Amino acid sequence: MAESTSATPWVRIREAVDHVGATVEIRGWVTHRRSSGKVQFVMVRDGSGQIQCVAGKKDLSEAQWEASESLTQESAVIVRGTVKADTRQVGGVELGLSSLEVVSLAPDYPITPKEHGVDFLMDHRHLWLRSPRQQAILRMRAEIIATFRDFMHAEGFTLVDAPIFTPNACEGTTNLFETQYFEDKAYLSQSGQLYMEAAAMALGRVYCFGPAFRAEKSKTRRHLIEFWMMEPEWAWATLEDIIRLEERLLVATVGRVLDRCREDLKIVERDTTKLERVKGPFPRIHYNDAVRMLKEAGREFEWGGDFGAPDETELSNRYDTPIFVTHYPAAVKAFYMEPDPVDPRLSLSCDCLAPEGYGEIIGSGQRMSSLSMLEQRIDEHGLPQSAFEWYKDLRRYGSVPHSGFGIGVERTLCWIAGLDHVRESAAFARMLYRLAP
Ligand code: 4AD
Ligand code: MG
Repeated sequence: MAESTSATPWVRIREAVDHVGATVEIRGWVTHRRSSGKVQFVMVRDGSGQIQCVAGKKDLSEAQWEASESLTQESAVIVRGTVKADTRQVGGVELGLSSLEVVSLAPDYPITPKEHGVDFLMDHRHLWLRSPRQQAILRMRAEIIATFRDFMHAEGFTLVDAPIFTPNACEGTTNLFETQYFEDKAYLSQSGQLYMEAAAMALGRVYCFGPAFRAEKSKTRRHLIEFWMMEPEWAWATLEDIIRLEERLLVATVGRVLDRCREDLKIVERDTTKLERVKGPFPRIHYNDAVRMLKEAGREFEWGGDFGAPDETELSNRYDTPIFVTHYPAAVKAFYMEPDPVDPRLSLSCDCLAPEGYGEIIGSGQRMSSLSMLEQRIDEHGLPQSAFEWYKDLRRYGSVPHSGFGIGVERTLCWIAGLDHVRESAAFARMLYRLAP
């Protein structure tokens, strides 16, 4: 409850149910209106829910009644009235109006209840956000992010913010966004990982959470140009430790969304029985076994290659929970992966693939410990040694085994909310052909 301009308390629609019998004020936007001549039914939303407002001609002043008759979709209103229990209504209440103030009358709102094409909706993304489905998605995104932070904090990890302007590449040089930095060149961060490795040697357990930028020339349903990633880094941790941490995080995240976002999951029509099955431990598949499984399934796949989206789907469709694919060839991974002591062609890496074809949501691994091997990998990847001198210091001074991962918010949200395209997973998604609004 917040302060109101009148003696009537301003409540959010979600809270109205706690005020049955009382007079309250609600501030919101009109979604639709109908009238029986003598009675007006105005549906109002305020971001917390929607409520049917009912007014007879004699309930309002003449001017207010007239104004109510001209209300259009997305007009802004302040309404006051008595909260009445009504089990037929969403939220279990309706509002019997005693006052209606039109704050702003909206002419010809472009998004109507009829079907619109995706391009039209994306061009009007600033308005599309007001639709119930988009609101539900944004609330679930916020819940997922809150869970990430709460979970890491509870696990004893300290939040350390990584820079956005960086002088060096972390995830390869092919998708860097270059920008001018006074006399120098800088890149927009692809990942905060290298900085987290430094911070982990200071604080032991750290994570960063921020935007990542990749000039990916791929127009797929899971690639964004700008996405948000949480990246924990853990000193002394092995690949095994970090996989277990990922497992706990995913179980906690799905559990909390199921617990707190029931209504939103209903709005997006998510089959929640699939989410209820997300309990650890998740299956683990060694790269060599994954290759064998793909071949047995009739897919053409050469040992040593990276998995494409159809390969990932083939593997993950066999299970109800996320799966961990481990020990990828070093050649298909970034320069910083620790070699597998059992087979040095492989790396101590792990990708987490979400079920139902949602693909990779986490990339993780144990980090390279040997300075000389690290230098060799930097050369092999065509990276300049000079840009990594500071990073190599982490191997010179008190180097210890350490591991970490990066989890993408949008991909995780797509899976949990059952979205079939990543464009709905961010308020203003940046994609290959989309920079506006
Ligand atoms: O696998 P990636 O590239 O790993 C890293 O960046 C590591 N440095 C992370 C670390 O170990 N600290 O990216 C990690 C995750 C992916 O699994 C995916 O969820 C997300 O980030 N991601 C993207 N999401 C949307 N659009 C893109 N273009 C993405 N690229 C990666
Ligand atoms: Mg990856």
